[in-house]
Amino acid sequence: MMSSRSRPRVISHVAVSLDGATTEFAPDMGVFYGLIGTWHEDVTLVGADTILAQEQALAAGPRGPGPDPDGPLLAVVDSRGRVTAWEALRNAGHWRDAIRIEADQPGERVDLRRTLERLAEQGAETVRIDSGGGLSGALLAQGLVDEISLLVHPVVVGSGSAPLWYGASDATAMFTLEHVESIGDGLVWLRYRHRD
Ligand SMILES: NC(=O)c1ccc[n+]([C@@H]2O[C@H](COP(=O)([O-])OP(=O)(O)OC[C@H]3O[C@@H](n4cnc5c(N)ncnc54)[C@H](OP(=O)(O)O)[C@@H]3O)[C@@H](O)[C@H]2O)c1
Repeated sequence: MMSSRSRPRVISHVAVSLDGATTEFAPDMGVFYGLIGTWHEDVTLVGADTILAQEQALAAGPRGPGPDPDGPLLAVVDSRGRVTAWEALRNAGHWRDAIRIEADQPGERVDLRRTLERLAEQGAETVRIDSGGGLSGALLAQGLVDEISLLVHPVVVGSGSAPLWYGASDATAMFTLEHVESIGDGLVWLRYRHRD
């Protein structure tokens, strides 16, 4: 998995409602995670809030099967050290290891571009983002997303959900549609590639 690029290819794979929400509905997890084999990610880069949303259930549940030596690395962007369930994450059976990405200086946020460069230096070629919109929006705002993959669900959520790309209010980027597929019970999978 050696990379010649200064940063890995970055994919944001998101389950969305018809009105663009990422929360307040139940995504089809089987289909959603069934699609991630598409990218063969070296790293799963996750926002701290995505982990926190499942941390209690993870900690209270049965111990997982242990690290998967062939799995990707779980890297959690967590400048404030809010995530605590590291053992449960390592043992979940999805990843070979789980690490916290800290800011370079106390009180700062994680430098996302530098984080991707460091992952590339360690050999990562492909990174999949798992985020409800905060982390993926921040990456999008900095032009660091190469592909947006949307799994559209036939549900309208209404005003209870945060907007999808809420870290990216000042970003403008053009993407090219690469794939459209109708899946299962009314889902649509859309893949868009960033236009260079
Ligand atoms: N529908 C889906 O596909 C999907 C996928 C994943 C999660 N979810 C849901 O979405 C919710 C969580 O998502 P979320 O969007 O609220 O949070 P998130 O993306 O999981 O977490 C936000 C992360 O972004 C970081 N961040 C934000 N702006 C940044 C910047 N400018 N520079 C550096 N780091 C920055 C934050 O870092 P700090 O912690 O350091 O501030 C934090 O780690 C949960 O309810 C979860 O269940 C849905």
